[in-house]
Amino acid sequence: MCGIVAYVGERDAYPLILKGLKRLEYRGYDSSGVALLHHSELNIYKKKGKVSELEAQYSGKEPRATVGIGHTRWATHGEPNDKNAHPHHSNNRKLAIIHNGIIENYASIKKQLLQKGHVFHSDTDTEVLIHFIEDIQHETGHGLEESVRLALREVVGAYAIVIISADHPGQLIAARKGSPLVIGIGENEFFFASDATPIIEYTKDVVYLDDYQVAVVREGKLSIQSLDNLVTIPYIQKLEMELETIEKGGYDHFMIKEIFEQPRSIADSMRGRLRAGDAHLTLGGLNSYLDKLAEADRIVIVGCGTSWHAGLVAEYLFEELARINVEVEYASEFRYRNPVIGDKDVVIAISQSGETADTLAAIELAKSKGATIFGVCNVVGSSIARATDAGAYTHAGPEIGVASTKAFTAQVTVLTLIAIATAKRKGTITEDSYLQLLNELEGIPAKVERVFENAAKIKEIAFIFTYARNFIYLGRGLNFPVALEGALKLKEISYIHAEGYPAAEMKHGPIALIDEDMPVVFLATKDSSYEKIVSNIQEVKARKGRVIAIVTEGDTLIPSMVDFVIEVPEVHEILTALVSVIPLQLLSYYIAVMRGRNVDQPRNLAKSVTVE
Ligand code: AGP
Ligand code: GLU
Repeated sequence: MCGIVAYVGERDAYPLILKGLKRLEYRGYDSSGVALLHHSELNIYKKKGKVSELEAQYSGKEPRATVGIGHTRWATHGEPNDKNAHPHHSNNRKLAIIHNGIIENYASIKKQLLQKGHVFHSDTDTEVLIHFIEDIQHETGHGLEESVRLALREVVGAYAIVIISADHPGQLIAARKGSPLVIGIGENEFFFASDATPIIEYTKDVVYLDDYQVAVVREGKLSIQSLDNLVTIPYIQKLEMELETIEKGGYDHFMIKEIFEQPRSIADSMRGRLRAGDAHLTLGGLNSYLDKLAEADRIVIVGCGTSWHAGLVAEYLFEELARINVEVEYASEFRYRNPVIGDKDVVIAISQSGETADTLAAIELAKSKGATIFGVCNVVGSSIARATDAGAYTHAGPEIGVASTKAFTAQVTVLTLIAIATAKRKGTITEDSYLQLLNELEGIPAKVERVFENAAKIKEIAFIFTYARNFIYLGRGLNFPVALEGALKLKEISYIHAEGYPAAEMKHGPIALIDEDMPVVFLATKDSSYEKIVSNIQEVKARKGRVIAIVTEGDTLIPSMVDFVIEVPEVHEILTALVSVIPLQLLSYYIAVMRGRNVDQPRNLAKSVTVE
């Protein structure tokens, strides 16, 4: 949630911060604000709504400064309005803060501060934190840096913060626990941001701050200390991201760009790992752990949302290919139960952002019980990637659209590679099927490309169903998670209520909803459950439901039974999800655009959910 950008150096800070905030807007977009320090004067400019509204408000009278902090908010405490927008001042207005996360014990701290006469101007937990820091400074006589540390030791919750002080020009103080923060290091300048996208056009040298670390830039130098005052030498890494990967490149939205990027992103997720011609399959980060996987009593997969759906696909793959018992858990449920888990279990955590709070907490819990943890993450250097014992990046490139598309197919690809490698190590697949699978996988990007030939037809179907009020998605086997994912995509960006179900479950309840107004999307590709799906389609047609079927090219039976068909190329059954999800992504995109929705930044959502 929320995007943070801060700058100290010689450039004009205001436009630089605004540009960075726009790049981070996918993280939160209900209000934005900037605090700038100019000649010891600390001024805050903030506004409800998108960053462009803040920009418009000060257009023609842009404030000047070379040091500043900026924030785009995803409200947790207090409604999205001007007064709750960040940055927030301290009581004496000498300090200002931006914050990503939640201060859970803010209410008790606020009570004490109110008794001391502090006056609050917002409903946020964040404002309480900056008042608290000021109070500690006042009560103890310590400098700002030490006061920040003392305050953070008292704080329960999650945060990435940056603080600016009117008394210390050229200084910024930042800290994190549970929310990401990257520091970019340039020539006589420093950048702080929630992810590297606002930084890459200025420098490729970055330091990822760790939990419980406090970073200070003072007099052109960066120093990092833990909350317990242990000094750390900053570990500088090189960013591998390119600027064009985070721009729209001629598309109307990031989401459609990312959908169309999938032939390449799927190929990227296999690059260097798979060469079918040489029967070569290797996953660098997992090699030394493959035995552990092959010998696992059980694999527990944790994730949220789309990543959880990728986990459901993986359940079929590991069971079918490697004959390992798999359980797929919502990270948020797993972490709050008392799960039976031990050192023979392997946990696979799946996350695009690598910052999802529930998934991170699930990892910590499983770790404390002795399980081995693998990560399948997209964002390099993210918290989850760093918290795992081993893992494989999905290499899908930055995903900016809030609705996940290319990250899903990259996750499924990488999980397929892991399942095949495990099966090979375990001896549960024959050499022939191993080679066949590698070949088929290599052919997937071209097959995904072929689905795009149907884009115009999918658009026509979208037009017909633009004003539908409900949708049902049904699939069996590997197409069941795809049905869930199709329904999630539609509801996220079009706000149409949609349900995904295993097709056979329909008769246990949802069939009551079927009438001539109910669109039903069937994933009806030619696989081992084809005959059964045909029966399910008949059940829906008998009740006058309007059926859109995703079928395998050349199928003639289902097209004769249903209202609309979208063809996809034939694929090996194990790889079904990678192809059949594509028309569903396009369908939801076109419907959302036709309904005039903000597809890249749908209401109430944020790209990375760093709160519980
Ligand atoms: C997907 O379209 C969603 N916006 C959401 O469900 C997402 O998949 C979920 O929040 C998990 O995120 P992660 O993969 O970054 O952990
Ligand atoms: N909890 C803070 C608020 O509600 C920060 C939310 C965020 O991460 O944007 O203002």
